[in-house]
Amino acid sequence: MQVLADTLVDLDMDLPDRRDGKVRISWRLPDDDRGGRRLFVTTDRLSAFDRILAAVPDKGAVLNRLAAHWFARTADIVDNHVLSIPDPNVTVAREATPLPVEVVVRGRITGVTDTSIWGMYTAGGRDLYGHRLPDGLVKNDALPSPIVTPTTKAEAGGHDRPVTVDEVADSGLVDRALWGQVVEVALALFERGRELGETAGLVLADTKYEFGIDADGRLLLIDEVHTPDSSRWWSADGLAERLERGEEPESLDKEFVRRLYAEQGFTGHGEPPELDREVWLAVADRYRRVFTMLTGDDLAPVSGSIEGRVKENCREVATW
Ligand SMILES: Nc1ncnc2c1ncn2[C@@H]1O[C@H](COP(=O)(O)OP(=O)(O)OP(=O)(O)O)[C@@H](O)[C@H]1O
Ligand SMILES: [Mg+2]
Repeated sequence: MQVLADTLVDLDMDLPDRRDGKVRISWRLPDDDRGGRRLFVTTDRLSAFDRILAAVPDKGAVLNRLAAHWFARTADIVDNHVLSIPDPNVTVAREATPLPVEVVVRGRITGVTDTSIWGMYTAGGRDLYGHRLPDGLVKNDALPSPIVTPTTKAEAGGHDRPVTVDEVADSGLVDRALWGQVVEVALALFERGRELGETAGLVLADTKYEFGIDADGRLLLIDEVHTPDSSRWWSADGLAERLERGEEPESLDKEFVRRLYAEQGFTGHGEPPELDREVWLAVADRYRRVFTMLTGDDLAPVSGSIEGRVKENCREVATW
């Protein structure tokens, strides 16, 4: 992992039940009258190709604040897990039991690997995730209408498996009525993301949602929403011209990182090459840019230890 200065890589909290994801660390907080709560710290770690590659400045704050921005702007569509944001890198959330599927919604046909939707389409696939796609689509084209392409969540170390919308209910992964609600909500969320993105000069090409059920049996949107880690965000400026020239869109998301590695000949197997510090700073800038475009806010410059600040800001909420 390449660790840049002024980043949050790891952190200790005097709280129980620590869980480590690739990007977030969470702990259990004392229950309130509605049930369990967790404290989520979003670090500056950047993962791609199923491994942690680097820690880049401001990424954690961008993700956490941008997710908070979108949770607030989608609360009329579905309830979400946010209880409070005590620090730029921290969300206090309602604990939920995550549904065992990642709900991906796609408005564009894109991707770089064989297993991406574009990869399958160029290999002749027309029935993808249970959706019939027309002939003649070009890479990065808009789909006739957005589609839901779920994947089952892999056990640690495994890979996510694509399934059709029908299979999720047929196999009993998610109760049929609940799943119907999830699909409807996911499409409405995507529409909201597209609309608000458009007014900010951005195209939401695709995104991934996670849902959970809380102690009262309520459906909640959890994890993160419309961030550059969970979504493909393209700059709308000059997009049509770029695509017409057969060029790739300007990606303000993790795809930019995947492309940097591809340019070094790395496709996800073996040891990843080291990238220059300047390259990582350019990655950090893209994350900041998408944040500023979508929220209109700036990020406060980091001064002093982020870990110290997080602990200070969480002192009240994180006492048992
Ligand atoms: N409200 C919530 N209640 C319970 N779990 C949640 C909630 N919100 C998010 N999560 C889970 O917390 C984890 C967030 O960590 P992170 O995003 O770093 O994980 P990841 O690397 O994407 O996936 P994994 O945890 O499988 O490695 C995810 O596993 C997510 O499903
Ligand atoms: Mg995640």
